Amino acid sequence: MKTFTNVKDLGDLKQALSEAASVKQNRFACKHLGENKTLMMVFFNSSLRTRLSTQKAALNLSMNTIVLDINQGAWKLETERGVIMDGDKPEHILEAIPVMGSYCDVIGVRSFAQFERKSDDYTEKILNQFIRYSGKPVFSMESATVHPLQAFADLITIEEYKKKERPKVVLTWAPHPRALPQAVPNSFADFMNEAEVEFVITHPEGYELDEQFVRGARVEYDQRKAFANADFIYAKNWSAYADPYYGQILSKDMNWTVDTAKMALTNNAYFMHCLPVRRNMIVTDDVIESPQSIVIPEAANREISAQVVLMRILREQ
Ligand code: CP
Repeated sequence: MKTFTNVKDLGDLKQALSEAASVKQNRFACKHLGENKTLMMVFFNSSLRTRLSTQKAALNLSMNTIVLDINQGAWKLETERGVIMDGDKPEHILEAIPVMGSYCDVIGVRSFAQFERKSDDYTEKILNQFIRYSGKPVFSMESATVHPLQAFADLITIEEYKKKERPKVVLTWAPHPRALPQAVPNSFADFMNEAEVEFVITHPEGYELDEQFVRGARVEYDQRKAFANADFIYAKNWSAYADPYYGQILSKDMNWTVDTAKMALTNNAYFMHCLPVRRNMIVTDDVIESPQSIVIPEAANREISAQVVLMRILREQ
């Protein structure tokens, strides 16, 4: 594996899930695989889970890890070619990336959508420059449009908790005070469309996601109808994708908050969220603290998804 940005990079999904189960049984079985190899994790944006789980996965494989927070202590980076660099950005990303690549064997990049130009975000301008200029395998740790390590961990979690061969999985939009990227729902849809699940997306009108991720999945605008007989409820906020409202908040309708009454419509569904979560906006205290909430094991599986990806990268080096 040279890059990890989407479900197709994993190849046979059943095989990937089987590898995840093996890692979970013994995460130190391949503890020599990463000896004398260095993972560089580059953060343009904040993180708790991705930072810790990916580092832990690398440590399980005896990799060295370097963590660089671009906005804390590194030179500010210019990302546009052709600019006269007489402002506050003393380094160009086109030098910085190959320099970073020279110090490591694998690079993870976190770089959120900027919401300045949709075309920059949806061509993954920053991530693709790392892929092109670092000379090293690169994986997304949530980039402008995708969060595949999260979606893979979500699928691992669904596989562990499902009670039937083909569970009903509902991705529901929920309100949030700030404009958030579409990366998590995009990747969740990308993975669910390849998994053995009945996949339904529910959101208010105007919040349609990019068809390259939705791929014809059922979209139900009535959240209550969508919740009927669901086995898993996956809540997430996202801002508008469609033009001319890209990156904007169209609604903060608290009627979309996941609460006990809505969960009662489901087949005693498990509640999932990638975290961090805004309580009593996205989900009520009662639901996230209920026995059906699996947000903590879901987050714990981030270590497993990261380890499977790192193992695949290391085996091809
Ligand atoms: N879910 C997730 O990626 O969490 P962090 O933003 O804390 O890494």
